[in-house]
Amino acid sequence: MERSEKERALIAEAERIFPTQTRCLTFDPELNFVVGRAQGSHLWDVSGNEYIDYLLGSGPHVLGHAHPAVLEALRTVPEGGTSHLIVNEHAVKLGQKIIEHVPCAEMVSLHSSGSEATFFAMRLARVYRKRDKILKFEGAYHGMNDYAMMSNQWTMGGSVFPKAVPNTHGIPRALHDQVLVAPFNDLEAAASIISEHRDELAGVIVEPIQRTLVPRPGFLEGIREVTANFDIPLIFDEVVTGFRVALGGAQALCGVTPDLSATGKAISGGLPLGVLCGRRDLMEIANPKRRLQMLPFSMQTGTFSSNPVCASVALAIIAELEKPGVYERWGDVGRRLRQGLRDAIADTGIEACVTGVPSVFEIWFCKDEPHDHRTAGASDFYKSVRFSDLLLRQGVLKAAEKFFVSAVHTDEDVDHTVRAFHNALGQLADEVT
Ligand SMILES: Cc1ncc(COP(=O)(O)O)c(C=O)c1O
Repeated sequence: MERSEKERALIAEAERIFPTQTRCLTFDPELNFVVGRAQGSHLWDVSGNEYIDYLLGSGPHVLGHAHPAVLEALRTVPEGGTSHLIVNEHAVKLGQKIIEHVPCAEMVSLHSSGSEATFFAMRLARVYRKRDKILKFEGAYHGMNDYAMMSNQWTMGGSVFPKAVPNTHGIPRALHDQVLVAPFNDLEAAASIISEHRDELAGVIVEPIQRTLVPRPGFLEGIREVTANFDIPLIFDEVVTGFRVALGGAQALCGVTPDLSATGKAISGGLPLGVLCGRRDLMEIANPKRRLQMLPFSMQTGTFSSNPVCASVALAIIAELEKPGVYERWGDVGRRLRQGLRDAIADTGIEACVTGVPSVFEIWFCKDEPHDHRTAGASDFYKSVRFSDLLLRQGVLKAAEKFFVSAVHTDEDVDHTVRAFHNALGQLADEVT
């Protein structure tokens, strides 16, 4: 891959200035790049190399980069200013749309990230239940807040359930025991942990599709039932799946309605947006009037809450997603890519399998299709990273742990990508034999 002097200098400066911003999950530092421009399903680096983008900014660009509806929303909203800490028309309309589409949404609050939305969901649950502990599922990611950074997808090895393992230093020790962990897709084990700890639990948080692991039939239904029986709020983290797998998210697809739900990415257009919505009686706990009434209250705001620019962009994206045929075409593109990947696995004879749904899926380098964090741990990490590198050399950019498909990837994108799958897996198979 050709790198211009300008791009090399920018990469060096980025590494000097930012500890976090360059791509580090690569065996080949030459594959690091700086984005020059982006349009639709494609990115170009500063040197002009072109990539089909399945990272999509970690998911947000479901309509591709620089979609005209997003650009138009950005052009018109500054007439009303960019933030006020007072509600605005765009935010009200977005709230109405969330309530229209998301099954659990009776009330809404608008924040600046998915991490904030899940954090506030857990706080609401703690106030409601007057208890502190949160149960999450091993391997699930719920953002960067201290409660969420426990036993997530980067955990190496496991603990004895329900003990959680911090995923970063810096989480107060006092919090380590405040998060309990259960195995995803094991209803019996999860239900028994919930039942045993019901008197300590504030809430249960789950990604309805955990990373790209789909729930087994009955799993979400069973978790819904056991939490409802004990009046423990069930939180769906739909930051990835919300508006991606369906307008109503995974809860609409699976027919399981949580008490609270966090979403963001797919309607953000790449702007900082996190949405929390849910049952009226739970969401009402965040109403500051309760302070005057001396009622238990969860503080849940910030400088950029209900930001009109973000709300306006989200409305424009939802209007596009509501158009007939969008999800059908999106699903079709994703299915062809996934099938292309499965065919490439079969043709090259490499030991691998594919999980997920058409709009977000992943390859695992192991024999049996994983169904939880521990079975996913059987995947060969070296091969995953090497596969990403080999794809990137052919102009195909994937996220570290998944392919995000947009509604605007073209037939040519699919054909090029499937060819790249065959080449990359063929080379990988040759390298490992
Ligand atoms: C399932 C899930 N929840 C929460 C988050 C955190 O969202 P954000 O990065 O907007 O804080 C992410 C981000 O990748 C996510 O995938």
